[in-house]
Amino acid sequence: MKALIIYDSFFGNTEQIALAIGHSIGNKEEVGMMRVGDVHYDMLKGLELLVVGSPTRQFSPSPATQRFLNGIPSNGLQGLEVAAFDTRIAVADIQSKILRFIVNTGGYAAKSIAKKLVQKGGKLVQDPVGFFVKDKEGPLYEGELERAEMWGEALVKSKVPA
Ligand SMILES: Cc1cc2nc3c(=O)[nH]c(=O)nc-3n(C[C@H](O)[C@H](O)[C@H](O)COP(=O)(O)O)c2cc1C
Repeated sequence: MKALIIYDSFFGNTEQIALAIGHSIGNKEEVGMMRVGDVHYDMLKGLELLVVGSPTRQFSPSPATQRFLNGIPSNGLQGLEVAAFDTRIAVADIQSKILRFIVNTGGYAAKSIAKKLVQKGGKLVQDPVGFFVKDKEGPLYEGELERAEMWGEALVKSKVPA
C-alpha cells in the first residue's frame, strides 16, 4: 500500500507513535514518513492512504499541522483513504478538577484533524485515536507503541480493495 504518515512532534512522543504506525503498515518503499513542516502538497499525489498525527496543543493540532491542513487544496484528498491520531495527556493524570474539566470539554487534536481531512475530500477509514503521554514531555504510557501498531494494522485491514 502506498501510504504517507505526516506528523509533528515537539518532544518526540508523537514521532515514536508515527514510526510504530508506519512499521505496522508496511516497509519503507511503501510507507513514507514525513514531518509536517517538510511536506509539499504534490507529495499527496498517487497515495492510497494518508495518516496525519499531531501532539494536542491547547485542545487542537499543532500550529504547523493546522497550516498544513488548511493549505490542502479543495478536494485535494479526493479518492484517498485518511486517518488521524494525536498524543495527549490522560485526563486522570490532571490533578486540578477544573483543568480536568476544561481539557475534557476542550477536545483533542485527532478529531479536528480527521474533520479537516474529510472536508478536503478524504475517506476516513478508522475513528481518530489518541495515544497517552504521562506528562507534557512524555514519556508515553506503557503499551502505547503496541496500541499504535495495532491501530496501523487495523488501517490496512479496513482498506477497501480497489
Ligand atoms: C503548550 C502545550 C499545550 C498543551 N495542550 C494540551 C491539551 O490541550 N490537551 C492535552 O491533552 N495535552 C496538551 N499538552 C500535552 C501535549 O499533548 C504533549 O506535550 C504531547 O503529547 C507530547 O507530544 P510530542 O512529544 O510529540 O511533542 C500540551 C502541551 C504543551 C507544551
